[in-house]
Amino acid sequence: YPQTFERRDGLCYIGGISIKDLVQKYYTPLYIVCAQTVKSRVESFKESFKKYLPFESRIAFAGKSLCVTGFLKKLKELDTWLDVVSGGELYTAIKAGFDMKRIYFHGNNKSFEELEFAIKSNVGYIVVDGFSEIEKIRELSKKYNYIPCMIRISPGIEAHTHEFIKTGKIDSKFGFPIGEDAIKAVKELSSIDSVKFKGIHAHIGSQIFDSKPYVELVNVMFDFANKLNNEGFTLENINFGGGFGIAYTEEDYPLSIEEFVKDISLEIVKNMKKYSMKDLAFTVEPGRSIAGPSGITVYRVGSIKKINGFVPYVAVDGGMADNPRYALYKAKYHAELDEKTEIFQEVKIVGRFCESGDMLIEKIMLPEVNVGDLLLVFATGAYNYSMASNYNRFGRPAMVMVEDGKDTLIVRRETYEDIVSHDM
Ligand code: LLP
Repeated sequence: YPQTFERRDGLCYIGGISIKDLVQKYYTPLYIVCAQTVKSRVESFKESFKKYLPFESRIAFAGKSLCVTGFLKKLKELDTWLDVVSGGELYTAIKAGFDMKRIYFHGNNKSFEELEFAIKSNVGYIVVDGFSEIEKIRELSKKYNYIPCMIRISPGIEAHTHEFIKTGKIDSKFGFPIGEDAIKAVKELSSIDSVKFKGIHAHIGSQIFDSKPYVELVNVMFDFANKLNNEGFTLENINFGGGFGIAYTEEDYPLSIEEFVKDISLEIVKNMKKYSMKDLAFTVEPGRSIAGPSGITVYRVGSIKKINGFVPYVAVDGGMADNPRYALYKAKYHAELDEKTEIFQEVKIVGRFCESGDMLIEKIMLPEVNVGDLLLVFATGAYNYSMASNYNRFGRPAMVMVEDGKDTLIVRRETYEDIVSHDM
């Protein structure tokens, strides 16, 4: 649940505002973001690092999980760094007034134009992902005399998560395989006049529940950093990526943010000593663990279908276009009715899009549902709006941020006119 979510006198509140009132104002489906939760999760990363790591640490929010101007403005207020993966995300960050020096620009196939846009915008780091990208940078170095680069390496670490969101294997489309290739990449990059080599990055996957793969990653990265030092390269930053898991349902038991940070930090401290290194800053790139629990989606039930002998279908006014995560990963979610709490019957929650895979929750116990009821789906702040589509020509829902009894519309609902606006 978002931190400010509560039930009072038969009504649900978030950020001090009743969900009924929000729906009256903005209709359904509606994404709601609790700013207090965003804040406390960012603080939790920061304070834990302060407690366990006696070196500079940076929290770079992974924009891919939720990249809209209003949300990035909030993160800017909270003094985070930012990870972007496209010209579009970078443009959004500029619109939000983000400090460009605090940006990591990622991507396994950045276009020449995107790289130039990033260099011109003075982003803090371009995280170079492959030899083809080095060639693009070589070309750009004729025009620009300062290009700060890191390299992404694939560390050969398997995290236990869905196949589609694992990224740390050697056989991966991301990064340079750790070893000879990665060293060659650093040598090639450093030989380009305008390039300033700054450090190394890795990301092992997403929705990871325990710290073991991170502890392994820290050791692998330090071992590699040491090799680079021995070759005469200095580093100013090691970035361990994101991936910290969250609880979507009662079955999920991820470590807390503090536990993740503690285990990573202790391992960093050990390695700093072991290799007598100093003057290094450390970065993590959480997306889901900051945005995910901050968000809920409110839908209205529009149709109920009872087929003899089968679990009833409860259809809501959204679905796979605003939350494709069941369709993509069989992801599980928790949901509740706005007005009732006691558990009553088993139902399936489906969407209104034209395919049978359009499901939000395969099986859940709910109180008796009626057409017109409001259904709340929890932990939808990350990878919902950011992966939303206009399938079946539905407009994307609105998004409202709530805090201390105030609601701010940060994304307006798409209209029919929006939907045809690109058609020539
Ligand atoms: N850094 C890099 C380089 C990444 O590739 C990612 C996620 C992150 C940070 C942030 O990971 P997080 O802390 O959010 O787990 N669409 C999928 C998730 C894909 C994640 C891709 N990379 C989903 O809905 O589960």
